[in-house]
Amino acid sequence: LDNGLARTPQMGFNNWNATHCGSDFNEAMVKGIADLFVSSGLKDAGYQYVNLDDCWAEHDRDANGDYVPNTTRFPNGIKAVADYVHSKGLKFGIYTSAGTMTCAQTMPGSLGHEQQDARLFASWGVDYLKYDNCNNQGVDAVQRYTAMRDALKATGRPILFSMCEWGENKPWLWAKDVGNSWRTTGDISDGYSSMLGIVHQNMALARYAGPGHWNDPDMLEVGNGGMTDTEYRSHFSLWAEMAAPLLIGTDLRKASPETMKILTNKDVIAVDQDKLGVQGAPISTDGGRDVFVKPLANGDKAVVLFNESDGPQRITTSAKAIGMPSAPAYRVRDLWAHTDRETAGALTAMVPAHGTVMLRVARDPRWVVYPPAVDAATEVPVAYPG
Ligand code: GLA
Repeated sequence: LDNGLARTPQMGFNNWNATHCGSDFNEAMVKGIADLFVSSGLKDAGYQYVNLDDCWAEHDRDANGDYVPNTTRFPNGIKAVADYVHSKGLKFGIYTSAGTMTCAQTMPGSLGHEQQDARLFASWGVDYLKYDNCNNQGVDAVQRYTAMRDALKATGRPILFSMCEWGENKPWLWAKDVGNSWRTTGDISDGYSSMLGIVHQNMALARYAGPGHWNDPDMLEVGNGGMTDTEYRSHFSLWAEMAAPLLIGTDLRKASPETMKILTNKDVIAVDQDKLGVQGAPISTDGGRDVFVKPLANGDKAVVLFNESDGPQRITTSAKAIGMPSAPAYRVRDLWAHTDRETAGALTAMVPAHGTVMLRVARDPRWVVYPPAVDAATEVPVAYPG
């Protein structure tokens, strides 16, 4: 959606994977997350949106037909929370469904109330809307999501529009001008097989993603305890490689140092947030040994060597296979070890079961080309120290 937002995939937090509709989901949590964004380096790493999911409102609308914030979770209302989040230099997001009720069925949806609800959200200072698909009464999806897009636009407030219809109606084929992102799959759960299944679906859709309109393979489970740290590193690497929205889904107030390390890996985040805005895609998937490549704005390539299988495997590719222009040497940065080395072209690693080695491959900067490269075949190296 060409509304100036999500020119790179959105980054932030959403409480759903951590709390569902449990009692931990409340004003103290949201404020605590906003505080941690600032104090633990997440804001500096690029995380911006602090978002509420389902169950933030009472079951019934008020006499004016407006949402009523849940009085137990948000006794001071939603605007107070939005103001707090904004006071930290962050942005605030909310949730509802393109149906008569949300998925948890504890609060109304916005179907038929799009303009009134969009106006209310804008008046609270909402910067982001996640718009779900439950209880949609069989009304056409294009119509339902377009109605909310138009209602958000009419408020005059820039509001990122995150479509959550689970890929049911193939939104990648029609939603480029409707949403800033669209879910491509059903809900993630906190386990390796769920994460892997989502990767398999989302990786086939790379060509539909771009600045302002991203495939969304659902929010992160990193830190929730159902996967090993090795698996969570794969999860985070693959989401970045696929230019996915990075929505933290764990209660950061309880996060381990390793979880924080994964979520704040700036080398990996830079791949997700690369300005070229191309979703990485597999160039081979032989025997559960996946090689993903994502072209980057400066000509580098981000490579994910992902071992889907249950035992360690060597995964091998090459500068040529990943599409690097020919050169006598390449620099390879390991984005988890944060080390640099040099290669004449071979790219290979032993990768643990369910693990990932993530690399950023560049032409060796010591090879200066003159005249400026037009075509790799005509490049003339003029200096190679050592
Ligand atoms: C759906 C969505 C989830 C979450 C829940 C809330 O299942 O896909 O991401 O928002 O609803 O009830």
